[in-house]
Amino acid sequence: MSNERKNLTTSWGSPVGDNQNSITAGARGPVLIQDVHLLEKLAHFNRERIPERVVHAKGAGAHGYFQVTNDVSQYTKADFLSEVGKRTPMFIRFSTVAGELGSADTVRDPRGFAVKFYTEEGNYDLVGNNTPVFFIRDAIKFPDFIHTQKRDPQTHLKNPTAVWDFWSLSPESLHQVTILMSDRGIPATFRHMNGYGSHTFKWVNAEGEAVWVKYHFKTEQGIKNLDVKLAEKLAGENPDYHTEDLFNAIEKGDFPKWKLYVQIMPLEDADTYRFDPFDVTKVWSQKDYPLIEVGEMVLDRNPENYFAEVEQATFSPGTLVPGIEPSPDKMLQGRLFAYHDAHRYRVGTNHQMLPINRAKNEVNNYQRDGAMRFDTNGGGSVYYEPNSFSGPAETPENKQSGFAVSGVAESVPYDHHDHYTQAGDLYRLLSEEERTRLVENIVNAMKPVEREDIKLRQIGHFYKADPEYGTRIAEGLGLEVPKEEARS
Ligand code: HEM
Repeated sequence: MSNERKNLTTSWGSPVGDNQNSITAGARGPVLIQDVHLLEKLAHFNRERIPERVVHAKGAGAHGYFQVTNDVSQYTKADFLSEVGKRTPMFIRFSTVAGELGSADTVRDPRGFAVKFYTEEGNYDLVGNNTPVFFIRDAIKFPDFIHTQKRDPQTHLKNPTAVWDFWSLSPESLHQVTILMSDRGIPATFRHMNGYGSHTFKWVNAEGEAVWVKYHFKTEQGIKNLDVKLAEKLAGENPDYHTEDLFNAIEKGDFPKWKLYVQIMPLEDADTYRFDPFDVTKVWSQKDYPLIEVGEMVLDRNPENYFAEVEQATFSPGTLVPGIEPSPDKMLQGRLFAYHDAHRYRVGTNHQMLPINRAKNEVNNYQRDGAMRFDTNGGGSVYYEPNSFSGPAETPENKQSGFAVSGVAESVPYDHHDHYTQAGDLYRLLSEEERTRLVENIVNAMKPVEREDIKLRQIGHFYKADPEYGTRIAEGLGLEVPKEEARS
């Protein structure tokens, strides 16, 4: 910051004579309406907040770069992945999910892991979490699910009965519930956790050949989690603990890093794999589809201004570049609508022009006007298409790849109902100490549930994942495993 003081001005740029005393009628008189600087200052202050994100409201962001370390051009024509050594500037926002903008960082919750790559062919957003799976697998259930995570409409308190009622009636959540209740449910810092794209995406190469892909960001700081008691203490003493940690680490030059890997599935395997590979409640076996290194992400610069860069950042799974396309995952398909819609409401229709969201390459289209259009709005250039005035033209080589569809259009559930094997496999992978903490976390979370039938229904799911898992939770809650589960 320069030491030379600038003149204070009004928002319309004229010098301010007094910024400490309102204009009054006489020394003790009432304030005059002609103090327009005062009116403007108060009115602007009243409008300082924009709606917080309906989910993932509390977060922290950082700038950095992504560098390719392995050639994946045989799988995707995405320009930013086209050659080893290529560097792309990026911005990331980490977040919790359920809490409000001022809520504590060290709570048990998934963490958002939203990355914006400013590629030479437009922005690419990878809007994932620190978990490879999700609680539900159809977007139509998302608003109901989130209602149970937010506050009760009458008491304005968190409602564990609603949480476990929904989960027990949506057994596809079991895998993610097991991850959430495990040690990984409270990361030590944003730096000590992995990130996942979670959904399956499609990569298309220069020849038009496609594969299915899943993304894994592995932390180079190592995975570290917080002890439950310490997390509770920090939530009271330093609710911004993770935000502070990220800022301070970058400020002192300790730049956090992640390696990006992908799993690649040949297109045709999707028809024969042992479960639906577009089901976001499942992970693909790494024995079947091993991790392939892609590159490294380094965070090396803090935002200059939180509101401008972090609060106004808009990420969407629909912000894609040539070579990266959606899969038929029903959750992902719903998200392709939900995010841009949220941005138009939360930030405004021209949100993509704000410096944090603007593509670094040239943006040319026929969109004009709208609230807060603060660039030149296309000036006098041609504003419709087709036109005879050399306006920007489409590039057919960038069309999305075609794909076959078949079947009857109707509301159909997923055809795979094994919600138990992967949750059970995860339980069996844990050490005895990890199992004990998992069970304790679940028991403590379920204790306040007001209805026994809900607890029993959920115990049944844990039991089906692994009899020991279900039995230990039943014991912890002073209940018995329901007879029909114990028999099966
Ligand atoms: C934020 C909707 C599932 C990760 C949001 C926002 C909405 C939303 C409306 C706020 C956006 C904004 O105001 O800028 C949905 C819907 C889902 C869904 C409808 C299911 C159909 C998921 C899943 C993941 C995820 C499966 C992760 C794999 C995130 C992240 C953010 C977010 C990381 C915060 C982005 C940021 O930092 O600005 N979601 N979401 N969401 N969602 Fe989702």
